[in-house]
Amino acid sequence: MTPTDRRDNLLITSAALRPFKRIVVVGATGAVGNEVLSILQHAAVPATSLVVVGSERSVGSMLSYGDSRLEVTALRQDLFVDGGVAIVCADAATALAARQLAQGTDCLLIDNSSAFRLEAGVPLCVPEVNGATLRGHRGLIANPNCSTILLVMALEPLRAAFGIEEIVVSTYQAVSGKGLAAMEELREQTARALRGEDLSPRLFHEPCAFNLFSHDSDVGLDTGVNGEEQKIIDETRKIWDAPSLRVSPTCIRVPVLRAHTESVRVTLRRAASEAELRRALQLAPGLIVIDDRKNNAFPTPLKAAFRDEVLVGRIRRDPAAEVQQDGTSRTFALLICGDQLRKGAATNAVQIAVLAARLRQSR
Ligand SMILES: NC(=O)c1ccc[n+]([C@@H]2O[C@H](COP(=O)([O-])OP(=O)(O)OC[C@H]3O[C@@H](n4cnc5c(N)ncnc54)[C@H](OP(=O)(O)O)[C@@H]3O)[C@@H](O)[C@H]2O)c1
Repeated sequence: MTPTDRRDNLLITSAALRPFKRIVVVGATGAVGNEVLSILQHAAVPATSLVVVGSERSVGSMLSYGDSRLEVTALRQDLFVDGGVAIVCADAATALAARQLAQGTDCLLIDNSSAFRLEAGVPLCVPEVNGATLRGHRGLIANPNCSTILLVMALEPLRAAFGIEEIVVSTYQAVSGKGLAAMEELREQTARALRGEDLSPRLFHEPCAFNLFSHDSDVGLDTGVNGEEQKIIDETRKIWDAPSLRVSPTCIRVPVLRAHTESVRVTLRRAASEAELRRALQLAPGLIVIDDRKNNAFPTPLKAAFRDEVLVGRIRRDPAAEVQQDGTSRTFALLICGDQLRKGAATNAVQIAVLAARLRQSR
């Protein structure tokens, strides 16, 4: 399959999703759920095929969907119908509840939480990277962690062409990775900071306005590795079926509303020239190379926001790397930016639904 075929296979259209009798969006009132609805609306999926679910606090409220309005309903067993699909964009406990309620039906569950990602037999899928794992699905598919999706998207063409031995990655993660309430905290706190007022945080453990801090997930007391970093290690290994791949992440939260940035040092198995690396990245589906040294123009969160592609730039041989006589090297550095609410969550989940619909039709 060529890169163009692979990209076309993932096009999100109303027709591609038609094999599903019903699309249930659980957590439709949240940051990821909002994006799922916006993607479905853009694809002209009819409002009549949608059901939107929220927590008790939102039940009965109305969500705009093009010219239509959708009433938020509570999570209930009868929402999960044979031939349907549920895209779950809520916390892990709600995802576990959804799985229980869907049991006994052939409603497909695509889950954005961490509840099932490492469970044996559950595909952990980034369609451009390991779409083939969907073939064996048993009604439940997990969407990887947002930082992991962006990382494997950018490195997959290098893994395929040269092999990967080690990854060292530092993240600069937007506050929206923690949901809608965190975006509100950054907005409010920035206004307070500009007025010279007190910056006591509510959701985060540190002030996020005009600041940055180690990721807000729990830190392993024995290892010093935090939850987000562990997810990147475990999930990257599962996605590439590379259980002993060396991955060293450091995750940082920054005062950006949306789109994560990642600074990556990658060591390849086979030496390559910078031109070969660049070509592999330029040909990959779902990536855009922005690498203008002359004008100092590279990926930024603002350039990546609201886009489905992952941006890659600052492609260079690592200055500390060993250089072969022919000028090739095994260690390179690059910068990645991607909207973690889109490709890092909602877009990836809907692309999974598109691929799963194709599989359903070909059965
Ligand atoms: N944000 C990201 O960048 C990102 C990226 C990848 C994965 N994820 C994962 O995606 C999931 C959603 O994240 P988010 O950022 O969208 O969070 P969020 O903005 O806080 O939204 C959470 C959603 O879950 C709903 N919900 C909570 N309890 C529920 C219940 N009992 N029944 C039905 N719905 C319930 C909420 O409804 P109400 O509004 O009614 O409370 C809301 O719609 C999380 O598992 C997160 O880890 C997030």
